[in-house]
Amino acid sequence: MYSGGYLIRPYIYHSPNTKGKLMAQLWKGRFKKELAKETNDFNSSIKFDCRMYEEDIKGSIAHATMLGAAGIIEKNESEKIVQGLSEIYNDIKSGRLAVDMEAEDIHTFIEGELTQRLGQTGKRLHTARSRNDQVALDIRMVLKKETDEISNKLKELISVLCRKAEENKDTIMPGYTHLQRAQPITFAHHLMAYCSMLCRDLDRLNDVKRRMNILPLGSGALAGTTYPLDRNMVADLLGFDDISSNSLDGVSDRDFCIELAAALSIVMVHLSRFSEEIIMWCSWEFKFIELDDAFSTGSSIMPQKKNPDIAELVRGKSGRVFGDLTALLTIMKGIALAYNKDMQEDKEAIFDAVDTVKMCLNAFTPMIDTMTVLKDNMRNAAAKGFINATDCADYLVGKGMPFRDAYKATGELVAICIDKGLTLETLPISEYQAVCNFFDEDVYTAICLEKCVNDRLVTGGPSKKSVEEQIRKTKQIIG
Ligand code: ARG
Repeated sequence: MYSGGYLIRPYIYHSPNTKGKLMAQLWKGRFKKELAKETNDFNSSIKFDCRMYEEDIKGSIAHATMLGAAGIIEKNESEKIVQGLSEIYNDIKSGRLAVDMEAEDIHTFIEGELTQRLGQTGKRLHTARSRNDQVALDIRMVLKKETDEISNKLKELISVLCRKAEENKDTIMPGYTHLQRAQPITFAHHLMAYCSMLCRDLDRLNDVKRRMNILPLGSGALAGTTYPLDRNMVADLLGFDDISSNSLDGVSDRDFCIELAAALSIVMVHLSRFSEEIIMWCSWEFKFIELDDAFSTGSSIMPQKKNPDIAELVRGKSGRVFGDLTALLTIMKGIALAYNKDMQEDKEAIFDAVDTVKMCLNAFTPMIDTMTVLKDNMRNAAAKGFINATDCADYLVGKGMPFRDAYKATGELVAICIDKGLTLETLPISEYQAVCNFFDEDVYTAICLEKCVNDRLVTGGPSKKSVEEQIRKTKQIIG
């Protein structure tokens, strides 16, 4: 699953006085034997939770600050801890300190490193805290940041789509149902449909973040703590909107991971449908667009090939994200309250979903930005599929005929056109009048595709005016 692309320092580090040994476990006191290497390898989460080092340290800084302010530990010790943690942060960030890949997890590593540096004082950091509420805090912090990053990437894509739509307000193309040509629209209208979908994604991510933005720290292992914690102070320091209201739930809740994976799965459904259309539009059968060389690939054997690999891979990668959602749901569905080790599996799944979506958007947005729209091919396809038949029927309705009769008469005209290899535009007026005497020369104006599109003034429709309004509103949403 998670391929480790985000690991910092993927090599083993031995701090000077633990050289050659496993880093001490935090919970060693009760145990008489050393941990088996196999147990540590299996149990350890450091390979995927080391990416939370920044959040772990920031969370610990806030916790230590509060412990000092609330008089739970001495002020000067709190200050030393904060100072020590800041130094560890700078050392990891600059590469001076590598994360020990034999540590049990990132929490153990940071606390161990602090204790090595500060001695007794370092051991006070974990007062009134458990790794259970610590890990719940760290994931929320990381995912808040990732959610914002993904929202920004979605906004970039939406903004590219709006620009492309502005350039294609007059680009007539067939709209499809059942992949059969149905009614005339513009390419701008089609692109704005994706903007509507992506704006819902933004809204969903915002909503997910609202419930994610609750501080679990202070829940302890499961039953809170007897220390007089100031949880609201920690929430303020870390930018959380509120604190969790039940300590059991505080450490057991991973709804925010599931919700994020669900929202990201829907993002991937949208990108995957879009990809499918890109793939079709690139084919010789459609030839509605051409992708830039920089965002296409060739074949090792067929010299003529130019393949839409990015779109295909995005479509394929949707499966990974759906898999991550399924994994999270399955991990959580059968575990009794409160923390169970099963929950350690949450991180690889949600990180994979987050990384996959980010990677897809990184490639997808410039692919769209640089594609060439083959307007003439779209216009030609629109001319051939009788996509103005509804408008022809509406013309008769305008002359007083009930819609059902108008529908039937137009159907007969289409059959004549197919027989004679003509279109509604090229069918002589005599043929129209032979089917129904309501027809006049003005029918040719009524079925002109440009008019058919621009008369669809209804809110949400394909007319230039309506699409301009859609673009305006979308730009307001992305700010
Ligand atoms: N690495 C653990 C996880 O990701 C941290 C929590 C450990 N808590 C415990 N009770 N073992 O879930």
